[in-house]
Amino acid sequence: MAASSLWPYRCPASHEYMSAVIRRRSTNTRDVREVVLDDLDLSFVRKILDLGCGFGFMAGPLAARVAEDARFIGVDAWAANEASFLQKIADHGRSGIFECKCIETELPWPDGSFDLVVCSYSLYFFVDIIPEIARVLTPDGLFLAITHSEAKVVDGLPDAGLGHVASGLLALIQRFSAENGRDCLSRSFGEIVRIDYANSLRFAREHEDELMTYLRFKLPFLVPGSTPEDDLPADLLRFVETLMSQNGEVIVDKSDAAFRCRRPQCH
Ligand SMILES: C[S@@+](CC[C@H](N)C(=O)[O-])C[C@H]1O[C@@H](n2cnc3c(N)ncnc32)[C@H](O)[C@@H]1O
Repeated sequence: MAASSLWPYRCPASHEYMSAVIRRRSTNTRDVREVVLDDLDLSFVRKILDLGCGFGFMAGPLAARVAEDARFIGVDAWAANEASFLQKIADHGRSGIFECKCIETELPWPDGSFDLVVCSYSLYFFVDIIPEIARVLTPDGLFLAITHSEAKVVDGLPDAGLGHVASGLLALIQRFSAENGRDCLSRSFGEIVRIDYANSLRFAREHEDELMTYLRFKLPFLVPGSTPEDDLPADLLRFVETLMSQNGEVIVDKSDAAFRCRRPQCH
């Protein structure tokens, strides 16, 4: 994975702002984390591993649901995420540690170390780690993964003059997507439940600033080698303006799915 693809996540404040924009512009009135977590009893969970934890988007709501003495380990490639990750769990009276590490194919913990492992919008960056996740889970442990649907992820890119990057973006999502997630997980887990989260983002004319911030955040995925500080491509800006003029809004598909996995197969 090109390092520039991880660039958007190096600054927890802008990543968190982006998450807030996504929530504000979502047509699904329920937060994806509510949908994934609300009917789960996590009171048995005392040891949690959050892989690709970022600023703690999932760790916060999880911390509110796990055992009072639960301990978190958050792992992310960007050290800057440490303070916000630890703060998100401290907000709910839980504690833990952060490890700055590039996840590849192995995890450094003994078998059966965790009651819960979570990969929230991160497993497609390091999908070869799935057997290791099963290994570090306790036999009754739970693995939660949230990912994107590949169905419409590149819709519109050719019209926006970005057809040449569609295959690269799709290839990233296809490493672990709503569509193929079950197949990826099936060798390592005996029970897999998929939960669909239908959603799209609607940016009306008055939300154009947020749309530009969203597109800039995604720029390293759209224009390989670029950073969110670079200018947006002229073709893309023209395409956005055409949609705004014709429809009064821009709609971006943001359908996701979660997988709840039990019975890790290495035990
Ligand atoms: C889309 S963000 C998701 C962050 C967080 N889990 C959330 O739900 O908001 C992906 C995260 O995975 C991290 N990441 C990607 N590849 C990684 C790797 N190989 N090792 C460690 N962290 C990685 C990125 O730095 C980023 O914080």
